[in-house]
Amino acid sequence: MSSPCDCPRRRFVAQLATLGAGALVAACAASEGTAPAGDTNQPPPAPPPAGDPGVRVVGNTLELTLAQIPALSAPNGSYTHGASRTFVIRRSATDYRAFSNVCPHSACGVSGFDGRAMICPCHGSEFDPATGARTAGPAEVGTSLSTRPTALDSVAGIVRVQLA
Ligand code: FES
Repeated sequence: MSSPCDCPRRRFVAQLATLGAGALVAACAASEGTAPAGDTNQPPPAPPPAGDPGVRVVGNTLELTLAQIPALSAPNGSYTHGASRTFVIRRSATDYRAFSNVCPHSACGVSGFDGRAMICPCHGSEFDPATGARTAGPAEVGTSLSTRPTALDSVAGIVRVQLA
């Protein structure tokens, strides 16, 4: 027959039994940095960071409202959506393309476009703006930026990019 002990686990379980579920949730919330209701000593939570105007993600689609994105207002423009690591380029009035911006050399974010090539700022690898294939630089021959399907809704002035 075992005798009762006063070990920490038993004390913890006993305390759980005496606490209501609400008190337990409040205690957990306080430990996560979220104040329980009625606690006036905690600052209000910070608002979520604002995204770029004209940019939103709907499900698995990145939507770019062109009138609100000056970087895509003319051919040879480009825009990087950092959260999805997507690089969008405008090649002509109606030709928009999108790629993963993860450079196959060392994973820097490809962010340059001069109309001839997409360029990695870290070591200068260059990529074909039609296909994403590597054309120069330390990235290995045969590597590329992966393409992301893109569609222009010319009536709404929105480019939609299917995210990976
Ligand atoms: S990481 Fe892009 S060229 Fe090195």
